[in-house]
Amino acid sequence: MASAPPSSSLLILLILAFAALVCESRLSADYYVKSCPRFNQIMQDTITNKQITSPTTAAGTLRVFFHDCFNDGCDASVLLSSTSSNSAERDAEINLSLPGDAFDLIVRAKTALEFACPNTVSCADILAVATRDLLTMLGGPHYTVYLGRKDSRISKSSLAESNLPRPTMPMSQLIDIFTKRGFTIQEMVALSGAHTVGFSHCKEFSFNIRNDTHYNPRFAQALQQACSGYPQNPTLSVFNDIMTPNKFDNLYFQNLPKGLGVLESDHSLYNDPRTRPFVELYAKDQNKFFQDFAKAMQKLSLYGIKTGRKGEIRRRCDAVN
Ligand code: HEM
Repeated sequence: MASAPPSSSLLILLILAFAALVCESRLSADYYVKSCPRFNQIMQDTITNKQITSPTTAAGTLRVFFHDCFNDGCDASVLLSSTSSNSAERDAEINLSLPGDAFDLIVRAKTALEFACPNTVSCADILAVATRDLLTMLGGPHYTVYLGRKDSRISKSSLAESNLPRPTMPMSQLIDIFTKRGFTIQEMVALSGAHTVGFSHCKEFSFNIRNDTHYNPRFAQALQQACSGYPQNPTLSVFNDIMTPNKFDNLYFQNLPKGLGVLESDHSLYNDPRTRPFVELYAKDQNKFFQDFAKAMQKLSLYGIKTGRKGEIRRRCDAVN
């Protein structure tokens, strides 16, 4: 049989390379079904053990995930440690309060997965699945996490400071941070419902309790008392949702109109006419909140991801290969 002329061979090669690239770049829910069949089981076991022994892990992991994704995409850049020549995201001032338990969970899952299927599962996928599974454990909604993210090779603390929202920012700036990344105002409000779980350190709000007239007066007093040891004891913190602190529900939204929000940015969601209608909607209707939160989390989990050759599968999550 006559061999194809060189130009056709080249074309065939190019088509094959392109097809391989497309396959490599495509995300799917069952991405590891063949390459790591025990992926789901290992994740489930690790997450359940960790959350039972350290119940603050779930909220901590959710915040770590949000900070990772909003800083140049869900690529596990937040998990990298600083080196002698690079100050990593994790060491940005805004990330210093990210809890160790969340990082520990990812190390545990990665260790178990490397043992079962070496060089196969990315840290970015581990973080995305851990977040979803922990949310479900707290009573939150389930959503499909598409898999096949790669891990970034870059992590810069300077970027974290400019990319992440602060509770003292005016609402226009908060909205700007979300809309620049393709999230609507309604999606921003839904995602902020994450503050139905977890803690805030006194440092984040206590300077403002006297000036912020939106606090319920008795709640303001209680917060002042809880934070009276600050700043001598910078670890002091309070629940974000005083009604049901460990349950993922819509009580956060019900708290806001009563002045029971903790952060200035929480109060602003109710006080700003652009966001208030969505606070009222989610306070009334937990199903709607769950639906919108799940959709927004799925969208967040795909934000700025690296696939194919744009990233790598790290051997350990705190260092590039
Ligand atoms: C709207 C802008 C937002 C601002 C200004 C903000 C700010 C903050 C601050 C200051 C804390 C307290 C951290 C500490 O003291 O340790 C916090 C906690 C938390 N945030 Fe946000 N956040 C925002 C949006 C979000 C979003 C979109 C998510 C997730 C989808 C999220 C998830 C969390 C969680 C789960 C906690 C509790 C963390 C823990 O218990 O360790 N936040 N946030």
